[in-house]
Amino acid sequence: MAELFHETGASGWANSSAYWMPYTARNGFNRDPRMIKGARGCYFISDDDRQIFDGLSGLWCCGFGHNRAEIAEAVNRQLQVLDYSPAFQYGHPSVFKLADRLTQIAPASLNHVFFTNSGSESADTSLKLARAYWRMRGQPSKTRYIGRIKGYHGVNFAGTSLGGIGANRRLFGHLADADHLPHTLRVEDAFTRGQPQGGEELADHLEQLVMLHDASNIAAVIVEPMSGSAGVIVPPSAYLARLRALCDKHDILLIFDEVITGFARTGGAFGADTFGVIPDMMNLAKALTNGVIPMGAVLTNDEIYDAFVDEQQPDHMIGMPHGYTYSGHPVACAAALAALDIFEQDDMVGRAQRMAPLLEETLHQLKGLPYITDIRNVGMAGALQIAPRDADPLVRPYELGVRCFAEGLYVRWGGDTLQFAPPLTCTSNDLERMGDVLKKVFRTLK
Ligand SMILES: Cc1ncc(COP(=O)(O)O)c(C=O)c1O
Repeated sequence: MAELFHETGASGWANSSAYWMPYTARNGFNRDPRMIKGARGCYFISDDDRQIFDGLSGLWCCGFGHNRAEIAEAVNRQLQVLDYSPAFQYGHPSVFKLADRLTQIAPASLNHVFFTNSGSESADTSLKLARAYWRMRGQPSKTRYIGRIKGYHGVNFAGTSLGGIGANRRLFGHLADADHLPHTLRVEDAFTRGQPQGGEELADHLEQLVMLHDASNIAAVIVEPMSGSAGVIVPPSAYLARLRALCDKHDILLIFDEVITGFARTGGAFGADTFGVIPDMMNLAKALTNGVIPMGAVLTNDEIYDAFVDEQQPDHMIGMPHGYTYSGHPVACAAALAALDIFEQDDMVGRAQRMAPLLEETLHQLKGLPYITDIRNVGMAGALQIAPRDADPLVRPYELGVRCFAEGLYVRWGGDTLQFAPPLTCTSNDLERMGDVLKKVFRTLK
């Protein structure tokens, strides 16, 4: 690819429609291709050899920095020993080891790990497990799911249905039996640093959904502890605890989608730690392998696992008929184990906590610049909300994102927001540089 790339040049490739690009505004890309040919540490290298600060850790996944030699070596070693092992009916040592290590760092009750290959597959898996769990418990009518407006759970059938970002759903129709809680973005919280206060009343909407559908028909509530893709919507301080209490009251499973919030992004090891609420299932992906090899996971408590895996079952019986060819792929496991070593040995939780005030300051010092209507942050995540132009909320974030890239900063634009999640390994100089680019592009924005 590298040689071909040099032969053809960026625009030669970029205009080829053979590659159907995911979530990409293709005309804008063709006009102004943004090509990345390398990465090191906290920086991408563009095709024209510029250093681009990675303001979103790739897509929230490379939190420990790019091209970590420890992960590359572990992957290389694994490829020479066992390139693939059948996921069904057979095991290999590193998948057991990885599950064990994940349960050691996860909140205490989450003792079992089901491996997937992405965040979207983790959404499907956890939601299927929820339905099957109630069926196993003799309550087969508990099939409906509750998501949240502005939520994002990937793009498979379940995630599309439970997500609450209109643009991701409206082309695809009604794909699952789903309803939604209101989002937690309150106008009065604009420019709050960290968690806003209160928020029980937002969780209390679950009571209305229970009145509407009846708890006997509801399998699970799925939320991101902090909405990432909708632009870092930080849960108010009392919200998640109230949601947990209501799920307990009505016998509804609570699933945290921690695909973004896992592995120290919000300052605790998981969002569950940062916000002090433990779900029944926790979905992971992204930073699980530091983004190097696709991998996801669903962690469950004993109650759920025990509903499917029981010592009384005959030897040939499969308790949970679900799994992927690449569940627990040995090469992904090698990457994840090496990433976990980095997570622990380099004290990523401590790093995130030390750097978080600097990211907070970098973003909140932008208050007062044109068109910024809100600034939000928690841990090493943050977002700017941008005023619409001519009633179109998408145009300014797009222009800002494109201009940031031209100035040496990669950020994600999504809806009416710009989103930030720099590598936890970044320095104060990196953040200062990011702040300077942002000031420059906002001051010249129409
Ligand atoms: C909270 C959340 N869940 C699920 C997903 C989907 O993950 P993937 O793109 O790996 O399928 C994402 C991706 O951004 C996410 O942020």
